[in-house]
Amino acid sequence: MSSISKKNVDLGAMRKPYSTKQQILLETQLESKNPLKLFDIWFDEIKKCGKIYEPNAVCLATSDKNGRPSARMVLLKAYGDQGFTIFTNYESRKGQEMIQNPNASLLFYWDVFNRQVRIEGRVEKVSEEESVQYFKSRPRASQLSARISQQSKPIDSRDKMVDIYNEEEIKYPNDIPKPHFWGGFTIVPEVYEFWMGQTDRLHDRIRFFKSDDNQKVDGIITKLGEDGWAYQRLQP
Ligand SMILES: Cc1cc2nc3c(=O)[nH]c(=O)nc-3n(C[C@H](O)[C@H](O)[C@H](O)COP(=O)(O)O)c2cc1C
Repeated sequence: MSSISKKNVDLGAMRKPYSTKQQILLETQLESKNPLKLFDIWFDEIKKCGKIYEPNAVCLATSDKNGRPSARMVLLKAYGDQGFTIFTNYESRKGQEMIQNPNASLLFYWDVFNRQVRIEGRVEKVSEEESVQYFKSRPRASQLSARISQQSKPIDSRDKMVDIYNEEEIKYPNDIPKPHFWGGFTIVPEVYEFWMGQTDRLHDRIRFFKSDDNQKVDGIITKLGEDGWAYQRLQP
């Protein structure tokens, strides 16, 4: 009988060459020096390739008021000048953490493209109107699940959950109102990092942050981007 506790699972040899559509991320060839526009160009390319099941799946990292971090996947539902918006339960672990500590980080990884984008920023609650509007667009089953789930809290069994769901379904034969504890958060980026993996592990990393002039960060002069952003290459 094999017991995982008695052996070390060695993943040391799990290493893939990064060779698909290999590109180098050069400062002179950035498709935009505004990180939101660059994100949009990358995201469009990734969406169009059709090889990634959920290109908008993103890891959201939050932390509590003592700085203890937690991370989970969510679906990005909008992005633009206002920031990057996700929807969830305000009373869930992530919801409470973002209320207590309004700083969060998003991490996209699209393996087919050997690309990663990191975003760090301030968290803002989405307006009630916008949350209602998005809630209305969701399938009925998702609306019901959002209503009955006390997300992140324990429950006795799946059967109990299904019973509560069925009772709620009977209560609302027509429109299902958005519960007060459910809605959106927008992460307003302060820092972006675009990463492109290279087979020789000399990966490309370009970090953008808000700045209107050239300054030295960690001894290296930053380059001016567009629309109030500056950028630097980071070592891999
Ligand atoms: C691909 C994927 C997408 C998800 N999208 C969402 C989402 O948009 N909103 C959400 O609340 N949970 C989403 N979840 C579930 C979360 O990962 C998580 O289990 C849940 O939100 C509870 O997290 P918390 O206890 O840290 O608050 C998703 C999970 C996966 C794997």
